[in-house]
Amino acid sequence: MLVPSLKEAKIRTKKESIVKVDEYKIDDSLKKIGVNKKYFLKTYGCQMNEHDSENIKAILEDMSYTSTDDMEEADLILLNTCAIRENAHNKVFGYLGRAKNLKERKKNVLVGICGCMAQEEVVVNKILKDYKWMDIVFGTHNIHNLPNILNNAIEKQKLEVEVLSCEGDIIENIPVKRDSKYKAWINIMYGCDKFCTYCIVPYTRGKQRSRRKEFILEEVEQLVKDGYLEVTLLGQNVNAYGKDLDTDYKMENLLEDVAKTGIKRVRFVTSHPWDFTDNMIEVIKKYDNIMPYIHLPLQSGSDRILKLMGRRYTKESYLELYRKLKEALPYSSITTDIIVGFPGETEEDFKETLDVVEKCKYDSAFTFIFSPREGTPAAKMEDNVSLEEKQDRLQRLNELINKYSKEANLKYEGKTVPVLIEGVSEKDDDTLMGYTDTMKLVNVKCDKKYIGTIQNVEIKEVKTWSMDGEIKEN
Ligand code: SAH
Ligand code: SF4
Ligand code: F3S
Repeated sequence: MLVPSLKEAKIRTKKESIVKVDEYKIDDSLKKIGVNKKYFLKTYGCQMNEHDSENIKAILEDMSYTSTDDMEEADLILLNTCAIRENAHNKVFGYLGRAKNLKERKKNVLVGICGCMAQEEVVVNKILKDYKWMDIVFGTHNIHNLPNILNNAIEKQKLEVEVLSCEGDIIENIPVKRDSKYKAWINIMYGCDKFCTYCIVPYTRGKQRSRRKEFILEEVEQLVKDGYLEVTLLGQNVNAYGKDLDTDYKMENLLEDVAKTGIKRVRFVTSHPWDFTDNMIEVIKKYDNIMPYIHLPLQSGSDRILKLMGRRYTKESYLELYRKLKEALPYSSITTDIIVGFPGETEEDFKETLDVVEKCKYDSAFTFIFSPREGTPAAKMEDNVSLEEKQDRLQRLNELINKYSKEANLKYEGKTVPVLIEGVSEKDDDTLMGYTDTMKLVNVKCDKKYIGTIQNVEIKEVKTWSMDGEIKEN
């Protein structure tokens, strides 16, 4: 049994990450484990977790499992979890309750969790105490070892916990089963070294480790050959790409090389304002296939709170960056993340946040109430803001955000914009959906033959969170 350690997860050394190209191995005897068996995989959290799930699916299918969307018919239930806020925890423990019920009825069902919650000492302690009936717990650093972890749990018939709290290596040969045939996630870096005081990610994902450019470019080139139209470069701070390597090759160089592969659309998330360079702005401007969409988390508009958060920028420097981006890329859409109710946030501090929103008029935003995370510095800060006050601030903020989202979308009315048609809309079988270059969700009533193509779409009607359009034949 390997359990996580918060103390170890905090350690950072200067050594470069190790790249392993043949670490994922699957013994022939393990390839049959899943014959006639089904897995149910539920994913919480960010795009990184979505992409990890694409790896997990490929590994399980290497073991002959097939997938099911119905938990009731599963032989293996796996929850790929997120630890970012307390409500993410609550959802997972709620789901485990349902899984337990199923296990009582179907004895051989295996139940496990992986992902960021599994990296938390408190979570694993709770599982060891109250959820001993579970079968597997593994973390973000050893997904490639899933065949052995699963096999051990089956052989020993007891809870198998294997979580490493190391800084992390880079494993280059994990298989992937992508959810889409048209757009793909690509990790360009793992982990995070920013240690914002409220955030658990540096502990659950380890040290910042940039993938070497050769592997990234090879992956993009292969995707182009396979007919993919879009790649999204993933990292907690993509703009800090390369800073952990002994090289001058930085995000602006990588972005340029990825654009040169000829892939139709290049996206990247998330951009920490701290590392956003002028050269990057130039590269985004220079290449038509780098999408004019930037997610630029603000977190707070108050200098005092930003300092307590450890964000290393000020309201003014954020606004300056915003102005530069809009000047160079006037057509771009910019979205953000904001936390309200950070410990000690006053009404004055909150008004500074509203002021930035008034100035930036974001295309949209994810807004959150501060959630104390065990082991982070902010969890120990005195918090004298009542929950009622926090909820009130969130509501006032959301009203303003929604007003500007609608305003930003209204500018599209009557315009013709490129949309990558991805598939059928969840809400209506007769409607297809896709995203504009600026990441606006568009519903289009058209023939299914357009799925997997980029079309010019005339926007007919605009709503707060989506738009309706028609394909413009030329
Ligand atoms: N790496 C990204 C953010 C990843 S987490 C960045 O630095 O911008 C996604 C968002 O969750 C964060 O931007 C933040 O707004 C929110 N978040 C993170 N920790 C939180 C916490 N403890 N409470 C509330 N929201 C949090
Ligand atoms: Fe968390 Fe900050 Fe790292 Fe983003 S940059 S993942 S908010 S520590
Ligand atoms: Fe959640 Fe882990 Fe992503 S905490 S937001 S799944 S990095």
